Amino acid sequence: MQINLTGRVAIVTGASSGLGLAIAGALKASGAIVVRTGRGASDAADWQTVDVRDADAVERLVQGVAQQYGRLDIMVNNAGISATDGSSVEKSLESWNDIVRTNLDGTWFGCRAAIRQMLRDNRSGTIINMSSRMALSAGSPGRAAYAASKAGISNLTRQLAVEYGRQGIRINAVLPGFVPYTSGATNNDPARIQLALQQTPTTRLGLPADIANAVLFLASDAAGYVNGHNLVVDGGASVRP
Ligand SMILES: NC(=O)c1ccc[n+]([C@@H]2O[C@H](COP(=O)([O-])OP(=O)(O)OC[C@H]3O[C@@H](n4cnc5c(N)ncnc54)[C@H](O)[C@@H]3O)[C@@H](O)[C@H]2O)c1
Repeated sequence: MQINLTGRVAIVTGASSGLGLAIAGALKASGAIVVRTGRGASDAADWQTVDVRDADAVERLVQGVAQQYGRLDIMVNNAGISATDGSSVEKSLESWNDIVRTNLDGTWFGCRAAIRQMLRDNRSGTIINMSSRMALSAGSPGRAAYAASKAGISNLTRQLAVEYGRQGIRINAVLPGFVPYTSGATNNDPARIQLALQQTPTTRLGLPADIANAVLFLASDAAGYVNGHNLVVDGGASVRP
């Protein structure tokens, strides 16, 4: 996609693999300076180890990037975890807490830190939160915490967009459908892939690049009048009869 982000500075959380890695690559290819973050360590020059459940660490990350590069333009809150299949009520409180802390609290910490920084710097900026199609409808069994956390992200996005739009900060969410081969073994199950194909009114399933392109658009000036939007990227799976 032809988007020019030269001179913009971006942070992408959860960018060691999957969608986050594709998003970071797309932003970089469009000219942005990108800092990738995640839980684990890496020797990569663009990498910082930050657990999104740690609010102070997220604040330090954002302030550090703004200090190092003189600005923060784009914050992509992508880090997230899911649950295995099974029955939602059989899952432990620890599992619920881990998913909600990572997905919802982690996104809130990223939004809060980025908005504070943009307000401090008196700069406009844009935030993209990684929600899910499951913010709008139920998914497979065992995903209560995931569904609740993603619905929370989608409405957090609307709330913050309304609150900070006048200060020049656009906040949107992307809601991917099923993107296989990214987040663990259950995604790669052949039966699940076949079912997803049947339920998707396109000739293929989603690729990380499809999600990265949506993020790229929302991050760019082409989306200058798009604020508080939840952009579903699922090949039409969620609107089929
Ligand atoms: N793949 C899909 O089908 C799909 C569909 C809808 C939404 N999503 C969302 O997209 C995002 C990326 O998912 P993915 O499919 O690329 O999975 P993935 O497992 O490949 O990537 C998740 C990333 O988040 C990081 N992460 C997890 N917990 C973290 C923490 N506490 N602190 C910092 N980083 C942490 C992981 O290290 C990894 O880099 C997630 O928010 C996920 O819920 C994915």
